[in-house]
Amino acid sequence: MKKVYALLLVVICLLTMSISGCGEQTVNKNESKLKIGVTVYDQYDTFMGQLVDCFLAFQSENVEIAVYNAAQSQQTQNAQVKKMIEDDMDIICVNLVDRTDPTAVIDAARKNDVPVIFFNRELVEGDMGRWDKLFYVGADAEQSGVMEGELAAWACITQKEDIDKNGDGVIQYVVLEGEAGHQDAIIRTEASVNTLKKQGVEIDKLGYAIANWNRAQAQTKAAQFIEDYGDDIELVLSNNDDMALGAIDAYEAKAVPRNKWPAIFGIDGTNVGLEAVRDDKMLGTVYNDKEGQASAMFELASVLARGGSIDELSDRYTVENGRYIRLPYEKVTSSNIIKYLSR
Ligand code: BGC
Ligand code: CA
Repeated sequence: MKKVYALLLVVICLLTMSISGCGEQTVNKNESKLKIGVTVYDQYDTFMGQLVDCFLAFQSENVEIAVYNAAQSQQTQNAQVKKMIEDDMDIICVNLVDRTDPTAVIDAARKNDVPVIFFNRELVEGDMGRWDKLFYVGADAEQSGVMEGELAAWACITQKEDIDKNGDGVIQYVVLEGEAGHQDAIIRTEASVNTLKKQGVEIDKLGYAIANWNRAQAQTKAAQFIEDYGDDIELVLSNNDDMALGAIDAYEAKAVPRNKWPAIFGIDGTNVGLEAVRDDKMLGTVYNDKEGQASAMFELASVLARGGSIDELSDRYTVENGRYIRLPYEKVTSSNIIKYLSR
C-alpha cells in the first residue's frame, strides 16, 4: 500500500511540475526581454530630458527601460546603479554626475559582470581602461565648438555692420559656460573662440560666466553683463542653448529692443533652442544629435546583451578604439531650420 502512495505522490509531483514548472531550472527572466537601466545626472537638464525621451521610444513588449534621476548627487547615482544590478538589468547606461568619479559604478558593474554604456559626460581614458565592458556614446566636444565658431565668424563677416555696433572693427564678446570640469564646457569655449580668430575675426573678450548649463542662472549672469557692459556686448557665445536662452531672457526682461541685442549663439538644437532660431532670437545653434545618440545607445545595449561586440555596429557608426561611438554635430541657422524643427 505504501508503494502505491509513493507512486501516486511521484505522479502528482510530475504532473504539477509540468503545469507549474516546479522543480525546473530557473530560466533567465531576461532571456526574452531586454532590461536596460538608465541613470541621468539631472533629469531637469533640458538636453538630457530630451535625450532620455528619445531613448524611451525604444521601450516595447520586449524592452524594459528603467530611468533614474541622480539629481546631481554621485552618491545617489552609485546607489541607483546597485539597485539596477539587483533588479537584473542586462545593461546599465550612466550619465555620470561627476565624470572624474566613476569608481563605484565601475566596481559594482564589474563585480556583477553587467556592461556599462556611459553617455554624454565623458570619463577620462584611464577609467575606461579599467574594464573591457565599459563603453561611451556621445559626441566630439571640439567639433561643436568649431561649428559654433564658424557660425559666429560667418555672421560677423557677412553682417558686420549689424554686429559690430560701435564700428571699431573688433567684436566685443562674452561667454556663458557650462559646468566647470565638463568636457563640453572647457573644449567648446576654447574651440569656438579659436575658430573665430582663425577665420580672421578680431575679437575682444569682455567677460565670461559659469552658468552650469542652466537657463535661470544664465539669465542672472547675462543681466549682470548688461549692467556692466551695456551696448558694448556685440556677441554672446554660449556653451549650450539653455544658457543662450537665459541671455535672451535677460534682454527681454530689460526690454532692450531686438535691434540692440548682440548676436547670440548656442549649441544643442533642443526644441526651445530651435524655436529661438526660427524666431530670429538666436542666430544659430549646433545640433547635438540626441536621436542618433539614443539609437546608438540602444543598438549597442542590444548587441552587448546578447554577448556581441561593438564592432557589429561599425557599418552604421564610427567606432573608436572598440569603445567609443561619437555622433557628428550639425550647424543650424534660419536657412536650414525647417529640417530640424520637423525631426
Ligand atoms: C549639452 C548640455 C547639457 C550637458 C549635460 C551637453 O552636451 O550640450 O546642454 O546640459 O551636456 O551633461
Ligand atoms: Ca565692436
